[in-house]
Amino acid sequence: MARLVTEWVNVTGDISIIARESGEVWFHTPSDTKRDVDPFATPMTGAGSAGSTVGLLDGAINLGFAGIEKRLARPEPTLVGYIVALVGAYHTSVDTPRNLQRAAGRFEELGRPEVAAYLEERAREETGHDRLALKDLRALGMPGERLVANFIPEGIKPLCRRFDELCVEDYPIGCIGYSYCLERIAALKQETDIEKVQALCPDGVDATRFLRSHSSLGSEVTHVEETIAFVASLPANDRIRVFQETYQSALIMAEGYNRELLKSEAEMLEELQRAVGGALPHRLSSYPSQGEERGARPAA
Ligand SMILES: [Fe+2]
Ligand SMILES: [Fe+2]
Repeated sequence: MARLVTEWVNVTGDISIIARESGEVWFHTPSDTKRDVDPFATPMTGAGSAGSTVGLLDGAINLGFAGIEKRLARPEPTLVGYIVALVGAYHTSVDTPRNLQRAAGRFEELGRPEVAAYLEERAREETGHDRLALKDLRALGMPGERLVANFIPEGIKPLCRRFDELCVEDYPIGCIGYSYCLERIAALKQETDIEKVQALCPDGVDATRFLRSHSSLGSEVTHVEETIAFVASLPANDRIRVFQETYQSALIMAEGYNRELLKSEAEMLEELQRAVGGALPHRLSSYPSQGEERGARPAA
């Protein structure tokens, strides 16, 4: 019988993730004293497999999110929080096709047409997703273009910056780890999450286009599956880099989410008001101020 594939990666100074093709995943603390007998002390060099690759990708996300406050992890959505999240969704989508194409061009130059082709395909699939967020904002009576032009939620800025930086690196393989992180988190959203948001919207208003397509009901699930298969096919050095970046992106994302989730309704309303330069649609400006209550779920 063929031996099961085992993959491993060191993501921080003192934590490595190890995963088997069979689906087992564990976290490992390399110890100096045992370094010469520790088989995971040196970077892996072997081939990947879908089972071990998904273990490391998701292990990296779990580790990155380990610091997020549990009580904030799945808050109840509010309309104001949802609008802020849609603005964030716009900003994490608007430059994606251009950024991925740029990274694809670099891999073409580097003589890696298979990576270029994968990124080109991703760029095509992501095209127009920023428009979905804008349509949703407009459906909620928000001046979409003006709002996104004047406002990027604080917690989203570092994430956008990270992706921009990754895509212009000399060897931009890390952008795959970033994209996996965002898509995997989106694919966790279930029909009930969408229904909850739908229930906040006025009757007859469809403002969940972005959310639906970035959930377990939309294309994210296929994107995630395709990415796992592609990453598993990459050489060990590339996989290591992708896993490490998945972890870094998860850290940045978790930190940003924490930051956004800690805002009160009043703070978010004020941010929206400032961005549109005054009056908000009636149902928002008359939104009952909930004082210190928190709970803007980053929807996308
Ligand atoms: Fe997307
Ligand atoms: Fe996607």
